[in-house]
Amino acid sequence: MPNLIRRPEWWLPERLVTPEVAFVNRRRFLRQLGMAGAVSLGASSAWSADAADPVYSKGYPHARSKAFDPGWRLTDEKTASTYNNFYEFTLSKDVYRHVSAFETAPWKVEIGGLVEKPMTLDAAELISKVTLEERVYRLRCVEGWAMIVPWTGFPFSRIVEMVQPKPEARFVRFVTASKPAQMPGLRQNPEYPWPYFEGLRMDEAMHPLTLVATGIYGKPLARQFGAPLRIIVPWKYGYKSPKSVVKIEFVTAQPRTFWETLIPREYPFESNVDPEVSHPRWSQATERMIDSGDRVKTKKYNGYAAQVAQLYGA
Ligand code: MTE
Repeated sequence: MPNLIRRPEWWLPERLVTPEVAFVNRRRFLRQLGMAGAVSLGASSAWSADAADPVYSKGYPHARSKAFDPGWRLTDEKTASTYNNFYEFTLSKDVYRHVSAFETAPWKVEIGGLVEKPMTLDAAELISKVTLEERVYRLRCVEGWAMIVPWTGFPFSRIVEMVQPKPEARFVRFVTASKPAQMPGLRQNPEYPWPYFEGLRMDEAMHPLTLVATGIYGKPLARQFGAPLRIIVPWKYGYKSPKSVVKIEFVTAQPRTFWETLIPREYPFESNVDPEVSHPRWSQATERMIDSGDRVKTKKYNGYAAQVAQLYGA
């Protein structure tokens, strides 16, 4: 099966993923020549044109939570907005160039399974029921890159309160959008098990760090970040943070996930960030910050050990 699949960049050892490194070096070079301003201007107008649907803009920017404001240097917004993984559109990082046809409003979200109060509602209505806040989190991709960004959103536990899972609900399954007419990647890579789907244990989903993100950098999510709603689980590799969610289902058995279905040995269900556990084909000991290019040591649970280690008996 894996041999039949067209490989995205992150199937390669990180040291072989050269285009972004070349990009960063080129920017450094241009900066030395005093040309970086001109380059940023051009690129920024290209990505801001695909900003969020205005239906989601109400109330932005939302106040940053003091509890989630660690004072870290944020990743440059333009870099984070032009370097994404969203295979429904493209296997390359310039997702922002491929999302203009993606309609994110209206957006039906179905929340059900083993719950007392199943509900199907529009994303805008769901967002209007909760209080949004900004939180600065680290995101670590399994490919070996990382960023620090201010998400806007609300704790996933708010959804749990709304639908009231039954005692037999032990896992949460997320299903994301599949709109072949608007998502070229679905048509170009039919061998993948679309739609993208993920899952968490109930205690992971209920953890105060687990966020339903609705915005980033003080604005509603741009399409390439997974508008209008995506899940963020900051102590796990980025693929455990599904974008553009349409269905949330409470279930008894551990659900399959998109990448686990493709290559279980490489992308297991749990997938907590761990510098000591190498990916079968590359080390996870360090990570590259996508804007500066700095290489830093990866931390266990992506730096959130104090908050989450107890979930894993550590
Ligand atoms: N969600 C969907 N629906 N499709 C995807 O391809 N990629 C995942 C995750 N969520 C993905 C997804 C991966 S591999 C990563 S690293 C993060 O999104 C990247 O999030 P970002 O683009 O906001 O940085």
